[in-house]
Amino acid sequence: MAETLNLVQGDKVEQYENILPQIRGLIDGEPDLIANLANVAAALKSQFNWLWVGFYLVKSQELVLGPFQGPIACTRIAYGRGVCGTAWKQQEVLIVDDVEQFSGHISCSSESRSEIVLPMFSGQACIGVLDIDSAHLSNFDATDEKYLRQIVALLDHT
Ligand code: SME
Repeated sequence: MAETLNLVQGDKVEQYENILPQIRGLIDGEPDLIANLANVAAALKSQFNWLWVGFYLVKSQELVLGPFQGPIACTRIAYGRGVCGTAWKQQEVLIVDDVEQFSGHISCSSESRSEIVLPMFSGQACIGVLDIDSAHLSNFDATDEKYLRQIVALLDHT
């Protein structure tokens, strides 16, 4: 496993194409989910410098805060609540261009303007979500969804 990341500037496709194989290398051969979530959050934060990158994990019918990079965040999110709880309930990727327009958005940071949340699966079961917050409006699009889906899929070792 490499001990340092090679980071690039450029458009988001170039940044994802750069970081994706490095994330694959970090995860390859490591079965521990928490270790992998921690390194994925750190690698994504390092490359993209988003406001907040992290994971919530399904525990006893709630989402509970997992490994993340960024400001402190709310610890528990109920099923169907906020962007994260809604993505979990719908088992779909949610892209929110303006968090103030999302009814029920849970504001962990007043700096957050847009957000993308992807459900994570172990086989068929949704085991948590990847949540990314940006300080800029409309920061996430189909390109982010495409690459982040691949990253989330790497975490499914079933
Ligand atoms: N905004 C999220 C809550 C988590 S924080 O953004 C880290 C939501 O509405 O579910």
